[in-house]
Amino acid sequence: MKSTRIKMNPLIAANWKMNKGIKEADSFIKEFRGYFKANNKEVVICPPSTLLPYISGLIKNMGIKLGAQNMHFEDKGAFTGEISPLMVKDAGCEYVILGHSERRQHFNENDELINKKVKAALNHGLKPILCIGETLEQRESNITIKIIKSQLTECLKNINENEVRAIVVAYEPVWAIGTGKNATPEQAQEVHACIRKQLGELYGNAIASKIRIIYGGSVKPENSKELLSMKDINGALVGGASLDAKSFADICSSA
Ligand code: PGA
Repeated sequence: MKSTRIKMNPLIAANWKMNKGIKEADSFIKEFRGYFKANNKEVVICPPSTLLPYISGLIKNMGIKLGAQNMHFEDKGAFTGEISPLMVKDAGCEYVILGHSERRQHFNENDELINKKVKAALNHGLKPILCIGETLEQRESNITIKIIKSQLTECLKNINENEVRAIVVAYEPVWAIGTGKNATPEQAQEVHACIRKQLGELYGNAIASKIRIIYGGSVKPENSKELLSMKDINGALVGGASLDAKSFADICSSA
């Protein structure tokens, strides 16, 4: 049910995943520039790492921000194929997505590793978009809340109350990602409220009420307004629909 929204600027992030090269990024930004109005919301584009410095140049003065999709927790060293927090910063990022379910599923990332990455991001002044979410099997076994609480607590281990303010939590039910089947606004709100409650238990309600909890999983222009009107939904992490400039702009406008 709709109720009073917690007042904070919504954050809408585009997760391009492993899509787009320079030409496609160029035409996206050109088209998006025509639609985008930067009022009272934060918009972040998270392209593949090869495009980070390039897009950083393209979006200067547009009022939108840049994020990476992943990073290693070490500053540098013999980690072939990885990028470090220093490199992510250097490329112009303010945000970094961490713990995405595709990283958990295909690259064996677990809460302990994600916690190291969250700490490393914070140490370098990067804002983590920390992803958590249950699988279909877990939802059907009625352990969604248990899974969410445990992922949140483990990923935030040894993060203090000053540091946690920089974090954005993304609730992304795994069954809703890339499936076209979004969580209903009520289903999402229920989990967001539980995340906020858990944050309150860990850090106190005053801090918990200021942390943005965004929803991800088949967000599109047709469902974004309703999802974003829920009390504890403070933004969206958008995959497929963020690849099209008009769709992504429409989602941004609905916030
Ligand atoms: P989707 O992806 O919008 O394509 O479901 C969301 C995400 O994985 O962040």
